[in-house]
Amino acid sequence: MNIRFVNLIKQYRDNKKELDAAFLSVFKKGNFILGEQVELFEREFASYLGTEFGIGVASGTDALILSLKALGINKGDEVIIPANSYPTAFAVAAAGATIKLVDIDEKTYNINTDKIEQAITGKTRVIIPVHLYGLSCDMGPIVKLAKKYRLTIIEDAAQAHGALYDGKKAGTMGEIGCFSFYPTKNLGAFGDAGMIVTKNKKIAEIARELRVYGEKRRYESVRLGVNSRLDELQAAFLRKKLKKLDRYNKKRINIAGNYCRFLKNVPLLRPEFFDNGRHVYHLFVVKTKKREALAHFLGRNGVATEVRYPVPVHLVKSFEYLGYKKGDFPRAEAAALESLALPCYPELTKKEIERICSLVKTFFSM
Ligand SMILES: Cc1ncc(COP(=O)(O)O)c(C=O)c1O
Repeated sequence: MNIRFVNLIKQYRDNKKELDAAFLSVFKKGNFILGEQVELFEREFASYLGTEFGIGVASGTDALILSLKALGINKGDEVIIPANSYPTAFAVAAAGATIKLVDIDEKTYNINTDKIEQAITGKTRVIIPVHLYGLSCDMGPIVKLAKKYRLTIIEDAAQAHGALYDGKKAGTMGEIGCFSFYPTKNLGAFGDAGMIVTKNKKIAEIARELRVYGEKRRYESVRLGVNSRLDELQAAFLRKKLKKLDRYNKKRINIAGNYCRFLKNVPLLRPEFFDNGRHVYHLFVVKTKKREALAHFLGRNGVATEVRYPVPVHLVKSFEYLGYKKGDFPRAEAAALESLALPCYPELTKKEIERICSLVKTFFSM
């Protein structure tokens, strides 16, 4: 039995009727960029989250870059991010800001809220909490700190569609929320796509302009923008899939529950979850010092696994210029060496989960 890390072919097969219809409806209309489907999806996704505005863009990375630009972040401004979120770091760098890293919590893999305050300087403007693997950051203390130091929060919710914290959806607790709809995400397109969400009308307006050359109207550019547009096909697919997001998240939660039950007595660190939130298990990540051997063993037996992310930001070659060194963020470094994501997606069957768990148990009994 070969078990993939994700199975988008099966997902297409399960939703073939709706997806084919969405595809045909866009082709029949002949409008492919920023049209009716994008507008509807922006409204529907914002409403799903319980926020006001959605601005569809080309990717989650662009959502972050344009959010920083919409806030007027410039060279010299400092932006705080967790030391383990590889894609977030590239967005901050691309926006021209200075990256300030903070270590993570060893159990949740999210930013360690106790360590944020010491990273704040007179130049800090933004904190980007990243809700990694589907678990919301502990937003209470982050919101308090942001108020105290007058900082803006941009949530990176690229892995947390539908995750909850104290009844609020991830992406709606800061000034801005950024989402990726990369195909493997909990809400995934069939190509690249992303969205900025906010309750702030002014920010929404600026972000909308920034995604198309800074234009208020066609060829009436009022600020330096880029081309980062969401296309109609992806929006049409995403609208169909949004209807199933809660159901799919429930399946992920079920799978995680099964993993936890079957692996109860195995010496692995399993994902943490909180009573006041909803983890949506974008990834089911376990931690062990025998990570490499476990990954090889599973691979040899037909089970695909992945490591997100294998290198913490401060040890990535392109970020050498930040001047950090090995040992600066020990929890992020340990996570990079010891964590392993097991397959976790709605199409995974109970038989497959049992097979994975039985292999993990065999590994630890050898
Ligand atoms: C936490 C996080 N931030 C940002 C991104 C960037 O999103 P995209 O790949 O759509 O540019 C991703 C996805 O890869 C992500 O997982």
